[in-house]
Amino acid sequence: MTRKRVGVLISGRGSNLEALIEACKAPGYPAKIVLVVSNVPGAQGLARAEASGIPTLIINHKDFASREDFDAALDGALQGAQVELLCNAGFLRLHTEGFVRSWWNRHLNIHPSLLPAFKGLHTHARVLDEGVKISGCTVHFVRSEMDCGPIVAQAAVPVLVRDTPDSLAARVLEAEHRLYPHALRLVASGAVHVEGERVVGMTQIRDQPAIFSPPLDEGFD
Ligand code: GRF
Repeated sequence: MTRKRVGVLISGRGSNLEALIEACKAPGYPAKIVLVVSNVPGAQGLARAEASGIPTLIINHKDFASREDFDAALDGALQGAQVELLCNAGFLRLHTEGFVRSWWNRHLNIHPSLLPAFKGLHTHARVLDEGVKISGCTVHFVRSEMDCGPIVAQAAVPVLVRDTPDSLAARVLEAEHRLYPHALRLVASGAVHVEGERVVGMTQIRDQPAIFSPPLDEGFD
């Protein structure tokens, strides 16, 4: 089996990066991380990559006069490492159209909501404000618009009555750490692909019941 060469873009903590690093340790996993790039010097995720012997690079957006120049440097580094698939994992920069084009259908992002709901920042606070009962996370292919693009996989997570943005974020993050390796596996193995801006090809869920939140029969005993 040839493993797809994966680059990961981060800006911070890197817990999703860590989940991908762990997944790649499995002998049958169809991807390996060959480069981690952070736009933020000192990002915690860099240390995680280094601890696993993965090459890292800091490309600080502040060192570039324009978004185009920054993305060109990023693209050059990824090409140089012969990256085939790109994963954004808490990367807090919007890409230029040109960059998005050059990684079209080879570029994934994870977002902590059930897209297309709650795109953008402060997701969990907005979910709680709206009184939503089920939230979750999404892995999707990257397009120019923020948090848009063909959806590869999603996980649903219940919102609890006493949740704060932090407690909900922590519950969703646990799901993210399982979802991202799963989605990357589907893409890297070729099990799924994009057709007409939809991801197709995966085995559909069989006999999975609906998820109710609050649960059915609650309060009727
Ligand atoms: C995650 O919640 C991810 O969904 C969002 O940013 C956060 C990054 O966390 N895009 P980490 O850096 O992977 O720990």
